Amino acid sequence: MEKIVSLCRRRGFVFPSSEIYGGLGSTYDYGHYGVLLKDNIRSLWLAAMVRDRDDIVALDSAVILHPRVWEASGHVGEFTDPLVDCRTCKLRFRADKLEDAQCGRKPSKHPGETPDCDLTEARHFNLMFQTRVGAVEDESSVAYLRPETAQGIFVNFKNVLQLARRKPPFGIAQVGKAFRNEITPGNFLFRVREFELMEMEYFVPPAEADEWHRYWIDQRMDWYLRYGLRESRLRIREHGEEERSHYSRATSDLEYLYPIGWGELEGVANRGDYDLTQHTQHSGTKLEYVGEGGERYTPWVIEPAVSMERIFVALLVDAYDEEVVAERQRTVLRLHPAVAPVKAAVLPLIAKNEGMVGQARALYEELRRGHIVEYDEGGAIGRRYRRQDEIGTPFAFTIDEQTLEDETVTVRDRDSLEQERLPIDSVRSWLDEALDRPWKTPKGD
Ligand code: GAP
Repeated sequence: MEKIVSLCRRRGFVFPSSEIYGGLGSTYDYGHYGVLLKDNIRSLWLAAMVRDRDDIVALDSAVILHPRVWEASGHVGEFTDPLVDCRTCKLRFRADKLEDAQCGRKPSKHPGETPDCDLTEARHFNLMFQTRVGAVEDESSVAYLRPETAQGIFVNFKNVLQLARRKPPFGIAQVGKAFRNEITPGNFLFRVREFELMEMEYFVPPAEADEWHRYWIDQRMDWYLRYGLRESRLRIREHGEEERSHYSRATSDLEYLYPIGWGELEGVANRGDYDLTQHTQHSGTKLEYVGEGGERYTPWVIEPAVSMERIFVALLVDAYDEEVVAERQRTVLRLHPAVAPVKAAVLPLIAKNEGMVGQARALYEELRRGHIVEYDEGGAIGRRYRRQDEIGTPFAFTIDEQTLEDETVTVRDRDSLEQERLPIDSVRSWLDEALDRPWKTPKGD
């Protein structure tokens, strides 16, 4: 994980937030390549959920909802973690994760394991961030930053059902920020307090719920494999009864083997009719499906939910590689081309050669109309290649002496390091096609 954090920092993917003020624990800002990588992840998720299907529509609901939404959803009462304080070192820990935590004293042990540890009884700590809406500061103005985007979907169920003319099975997908006042955030982006959730609520006839639950677990697993995660690093783990969230009838996690061990990448839950029933009771608005023949029922919900942050880390961990080439160490991100922040680099071999620079700039202008590409003329060519390797750029086009003679360029493949020559006027179509080809990581399974 340290290598990933350092690469992210060095190459401008992710910075600690508010750094000039000493940082705000476990809060991060994304730089240029981080933003591009996130854009790609988001688009690929939306493509799989909305663009490529006829049965799922998109939604963008508010971050601050009516506070009664969170009473109805059970989050005010149930969205808690067990918290213990240590009276000696003044640190706070999750009572159910003491084996993952470090006591404040040296040599460091788990909380409760040194003679000085003095832990309080566990108490329920609600993870929702509170805020106030309007100028009056009393109980009536209390509101919450959403801890999940799902509730914005449930409260819009009737709107979508009527206006998008859908009938179960159909889904509503949403991407947006969520906030949780985690007791022990950490492990880089893995557990943060502000993150981007990608959730899809799929409404189904109750009798079909188990079948659709399995379907979505498979779909999501295929999505990760398609975008390059190694199969040996992924597994499905079903939650035990005691572990399930208050709304869940069954949940399976897709886990990834992060450097910290197996951890939840995505959860796929069967939420039953819990949410629609709760909102029907609390709001007085019936959230049910009425068929053309007059039959009515409350659909059950299957929900794949994942944060951008967990995918971001999994992709980087999976892609990170180091190798020695011609006695020099190279660090390379072997990202799937569809995910890579920059698709190609255009490099004139000699920056002072006007002919090369002219051809390179013209090619760059042509390619950037379709893709994110970079032009780089600074420094030795080897150093420029290594820079692109570190940000995961799959292809580099180099303009050299031969280009000036025969209008061909070399294309260098990030993974195999093979080079071939192409006519300069075919580069655009070659790149379009190369980015469309199925890709498999050379790191094996
Ligand atoms: N609506 C369902 C829901 O929110 P969850 O398991 O609590 O379920 C969904 O969260 C996903 O959000 C997780 O599978 C994980 O990918 C991500 N996630 C949860 N807490 C997170 C945190 N503190 N930081 C980053 N990602 C988080």
